Order: sequence, then structure tokens, then C-alpha cells
Amino acid sequence: MSDDRLIVAIDLPNALAGLELSKQLGDSVSFYKIGLGMLTGGGLALANELKDEHGKRIFLDMKLFDISATVEAAVRGLAQFGHDFLTVHGDPHVVRAAKEGASGTNLKILGVTVLTSLDRSDLDDGCMKAGDIHEITLERAAKAFDAGADGVIASPQEAAAIRALPEASGRLIVTPGVRPSGADLGDQKRVATPASAIGDGADHIVVGRPIWQAANPRDAAQAILTELP
Ligand code: C5P
Repeated sequence: MSDDRLIVAIDLPNALAGLELSKQLGDSVSFYKIGLGMLTGGGLALANELKDEHGKRIFLDMKLFDISATVEAAVRGLAQFGHDFLTVHGDPHVVRAAKEGASGTNLKILGVTVLTSLDRSDLDDGCMKAGDIHEITLERAAKAFDAGADGVIASPQEAAAIRALPEASGRLIVTPGVRPSGADLGDQKRVATPASAIGDGADHIVVGRPIWQAANPRDAAQAILTELP
């Protein structure tokens, strides 16, 4: 049984290791996230192979940020591959440029609000505006939606508040930081179970280490799927 609400993050060092993992997971997983670490180790070729040869859905986690013309050109180039999701930073000019680059394709643009690894002192260091980080996250989500984002990336703790925004109607919420009940947290601090993330309004959950570090990744993925409501 596969269910595309589960997206498996392939945070492995190279494309061969990623392909091996996808073989172990087989038809239990239909959606993969490929991030920057993998993209510099042959990840785009892996993404294309998983999609074209194995019929998988692909989420490219590139978190693009640049001047509008450059973002638009980068997204136009990527959009030709027919992947499903691409992340950009949620700043309105970036989202608008990415949407322009993706126009005429099915590539969905997801905005990053505030990286969940950042706290208030990090925002101060980066000269980001004063205020409560949760409020800033909601404000950035609303602005990303207003700029046309098809969805946002959010921690499970933010999913319910973002889902309640009027601007979020019909848009996607994708949450990393998900751990099956009783799992090792790794470096994730603000986690939720698969069921509570979906219950709070997430459309997709992203899970990495609890699956690819497991002795039997396929069993681990199946166990998460059975936790989904
Ligand atoms: O191994 P784990 O399940 O923690 O992996 C989560 C994935 O989601 C990783 O690829 C990580 O980079 C990504 N991610 C995250 N938190 C964010 C944004 C992305 O954990 N705020």
C-alpha cells in the first residue's frame, strides 16, 4: 500500500545510495524529497530516474532565493523535467518569479516561511524584523499565499494556525519534523506524530531518518502509513 501523503526525504550522500533505498522501499513509497545535499551528488539525475523509470512523484527541496529574473530562469529550467514540488524562500518577489517560471507546467511552488531551525536571536543576527517568531511565520505564510504560492513548508506546530488562515484555503501545507510514536527524535526538536500533523491540516508529511536509518526501511514506511488517519 502506498499513500502519497508520505514523502520520504532521501538525505543520502549520492544518487546510487538513493536508488538503492528506493528499491528497498519499492511500492510502499510513491513520493520522494531530494534536497541540496543529494542534489550536489547526482540528485537531479536520481529525481529524473525515479520519476521516469519508476513512476514516483518528486519534491525538489532547493529553497531558491535570488533576484526575480534568476529565480524565474532557474524554475523555468527545472519545470521542464515534470517534477511535482519545488521549494523557494517565501518572500513575495521570489514566489512570484517562481510561479512565472513554472507557468504552463504542473510544478507546484512551496514557500519556506521561517526555517524551523532558527530562533529569535538568529532572526536578530540576520536583521529580520522584531516580533514573535510564530507571528512572523504566519505573516510570511499569508504573504507567500498572496504572492501565489501553491503551498508552504511548516513545522507541525505551525500547521493548524496556517491552515486557519483565510489565504491558506485550497493551498498545500507540507510538514517535516514528523516522528512516528516512540521514535528517536534525532536533531528535530519540535516534532509531531504523522496522525497529529495530518489532523492539524498538513497535506503531506516529510520523513527521513526514521525510514532510511531503519534496519528495514520498508517496514518503517509501512508502520508510518498505518499511523495516518
Ligand atoms: O530525517 P528527518 O525526518 O528529520 O528529515 C526531515 C527532512 O526535512 C530533512 O530533509 C530536512 O532537511 C527537512 N527539513 C526539516 N525542517 C525544515 C525544513 C526541512 O527537517 N524546517
